Amino acid sequence: MENAEEDLQLLEMARLAAEKAYCAYSNFHVGAAVETEIGIFSGCNVENASYGLSMCAERVALFSAAAAGARNFERLAVSCVDALDGSLLNAKMPCGACRQVMSELMQPGSRIIIDGAGQFLLADLLPQPFRLDMDKQS
Ligand code: THU
Repeated sequence: MENAEEDLQLLEMARLAAEKAYCAYSNFHVGAAVETEIGIFSGCNVENASYGLSMCAERVALFSAAAAGARNFERLAVSCVDALDGSLLNAKMPCGACRQVMSELMQPGSRIIIDGAGQFLLADLLPQPFRLDMDKQS
């Protein structure tokens, strides 16, 4: 495994971020941490009484980094801390919306470290992400 120690540090940051989760409705705590050229940014899920407005931990971390000016997103770690004991593998995995956002900001070869599930290449998590064909825009 590549950079195992650094991966574990990033994962620890994701687990720590999960402690901050605002998950009043699901009580499902998630944390994420992304390494960029200007540092590491973390995030947690933030829910809303209007359920659809809730935001996942991965996107909070990625958007925080982008808003701070980051443009090179190296690796992302995510921890669904409430799904680590005996839960289905799918309960630990990033949702489809977050995979699309990762595909916007990260590279197909970027590594996504998922607590209790292992590490994956982004291209394996979302093989055919949506892209705008900018040549077709007027
Ligand atoms: N959640 C995340 O933060 N990331 C994911 O990839 C999957 C789901 C959050 C959203 C919601 O607050 C809670 O987990 C239960 O779905």
